[in-house]
Amino acid sequence: MKITYEQIKESAAFIEQQGIAKPHVGIILGTGLGGLVSSIQIIKEIDYASIPNFPVSTVESHKGKLIYGELEGKKVLAMQGRFHYYEGYNMQQITLPVRVMKLLGVQQLLISNAAGAVNLNYKKGSLMLLDDHINLLPENPLTGKNINELGPRFPDMSQPFDKNINQLLKKTAKENNVTLHEGVYASVPGPNLETRAEYRYIKLIGGDAVGMSTVPEVIVANHMNLPCAAVSVLTDECNPDNLHPVSLQEILDVAAEAEKGLITLFKKVVACL
Ligand code: HPA
Repeated sequence: MKITYEQIKESAAFIEQQGIAKPHVGIILGTGLGGLVSSIQIIKEIDYASIPNFPVSTVESHKGKLIYGELEGKKVLAMQGRFHYYEGYNMQQITLPVRVMKLLGVQQLLISNAAGAVNLNYKKGSLMLLDDHINLLPENPLTGKNINELGPRFPDMSQPFDKNINQLLKKTAKENNVTLHEGVYASVPGPNLETRAEYRYIKLIGGDAVGMSTVPEVIVANHMNLPCAAVSVLTDECNPDNLHPVSLQEILDVAAEAEKGLITLFKKVVACL
């Protein structure tokens, strides 16, 4: 079922009624990356399940909550847990929270995710700033009648990630001794990890990292002219010539370790936004 503009407004109105006023920065926290929340002075938490039209996250490693509070003196609205295509949701459901954030007044969007390193110069446990993306998902959130109130029919994608926020992230990483690679993120549907041949293919077409999220959210953010930036936590090395089985637990363990650098980056950048 497609989500209508009326439904997006209904979700936003419900959240506003809960006392969420003018959040400045939106944040999406990826798999195993909810730790930033403990740095937020929480004003209000809302379970996704209580918000009209919001899907409910089915992934155990994802908490389904909207967190509103102050981070570094800025009002932020963070998604603790996001929605994935492999859970069975359609693209409009997956991206509804981003559209709602925009209606609530969010000015910039920061996104994190866990991803596999296809560029073998990038080691597991390090971070990668998204400079660009390749959409390998079988659907697009903008398919169907365009919602003209939100953005144009054919949004430009020449610069999907905001230059200024990316510059700020790179500067912050340098100042804080956090290794931050830069590269292209390819989004796949999942939920299975990739085969050796698929990793070879992703590398061949220009991917540096691969994951199962982020691109739908980035597409709707660009549609609505909402500046966004995204950082991948590289949780496994996808070497087709020496590929080891990787479990969700290993991905979560590496994410937990690498999250410290990500939290430093997001906190310092929010302070400057
Ligand atoms: N592939 C896809 N998604 C992922 C991976 C991967 O190797 N690692 C973490 N998320």
